[in-house]
Amino acid sequence: MKKNIAVLPGDGIGPEIIAEAVKVLDKIADKYGHEFEYNYVDIGGCSIDKYGVPITNEGMEICKSSDSVLLGAVGGPKWDNCPPEIRAEKALLAVRKELNLFANLRPTKLFKYLASSSPLKEEVIGGGIDLLIVRELTGGVYFGAKKTENIDGQLVATDIMPYSESEIERIGRVAFETAMKRNKKLTSVDKANVLETSRLWRKTMHRLSNEYPEVEYSDALVDSTAMQLIKNPSQFDVIVTENMFGDILSDEASMLTGSIGMMPSASLSSGTRGMYEPIHGSAPDIAGLNIANPLGTILSAAMMLRYSFDMAEEAEAIERAVDKVLDEGYRTGDIMQENCKKVTCSEMGTLVANKL
Ligand code: IPM
Ligand code: MG
Repeated sequence: MKKNIAVLPGDGIGPEIIAEAVKVLDKIADKYGHEFEYNYVDIGGCSIDKYGVPITNEGMEICKSSDSVLLGAVGGPKWDNCPPEIRAEKALLAVRKELNLFANLRPTKLFKYLASSSPLKEEVIGGGIDLLIVRELTGGVYFGAKKTENIDGQLVATDIMPYSESEIERIGRVAFETAMKRNKKLTSVDKANVLETSRLWRKTMHRLSNEYPEVEYSDALVDSTAMQLIKNPSQFDVIVTENMFGDILSDEASMLTGSIGMMPSASLSSGTRGMYEPIHGSAPDIAGLNIANPLGTILSAAMMLRYSFDMAEEAEAIERAVDKVLDEGYRTGDIMQENCKKVTCSEMGTLVANKL
């Protein structure tokens, strides 16, 4: 199969980890007879430096005409003081919105070899952790109207959090369908004791749950969920939640497994095109040192093969290769354990590619 992939390395460690994912994709293309064409696009701070904007119109067009998008990470302290309209993160939000990527899937899985990297005690994670956060990605407070105004001599800032029934319903459907393919257990997370948007969210999810009688459905409040994720993470299978709650809970969930560097994500629309990226940031403190963990990005590339290109076998091959490399004791610094072999970012990519 021939696929064209928009590749957006971005800032900080972005280019390093993307290079390793491309190395692995090339090996897949070779082995399974596919052709992947990569179109590189600047995004974030590097684009601000070159063009004065975090993504150019041409760059956006390349993303829109691609079969899928692979992203590293954006942002860094160098661009923190840019005006809000040209902040590095703005480009990421713009791509999500323009490509209508409303469903963000963030799996958290405890790799058995890495259990000791988890900050949680053995008895808490003993039941295993394999959960999936389905985060609404193009609505809510991220995209609602914002302003800062002077009222009675002081600045007052407002961010509006709107959600329509149809926006809630479409992410709800993705969550129920995903739960059907997993363990048929879905927790919808909201703040219905306070927020109007959450009350509509809950009402809509309840209506949908009648259509999926096989799914064991429950509601939970976001504060209590934050607590339960630490207390008893094994109880969760699929969690569905709005944009900002999903942002926060997915960082928390990723740490249950020890390293955010391992976690991939997929942002999907109703068609097959998606955007795939590790959930970690650009880690400017270790940029250029070739010590970052590329596995989150490599596993994101695997998700791209599965969800956008319908290449389940190839995706599994990558996941198995990652498993084997960990089993053999190779580790980047962030997941280093006693008696393991410490490798660089590029060595890790090569090890995975060679296992394919
Ligand atoms: C994420 C990130 C982004 C978000 C930032 C970089 C805008 O934290 O993908 O989780 O908040 O969505
Ligand atoms: Mg985040």
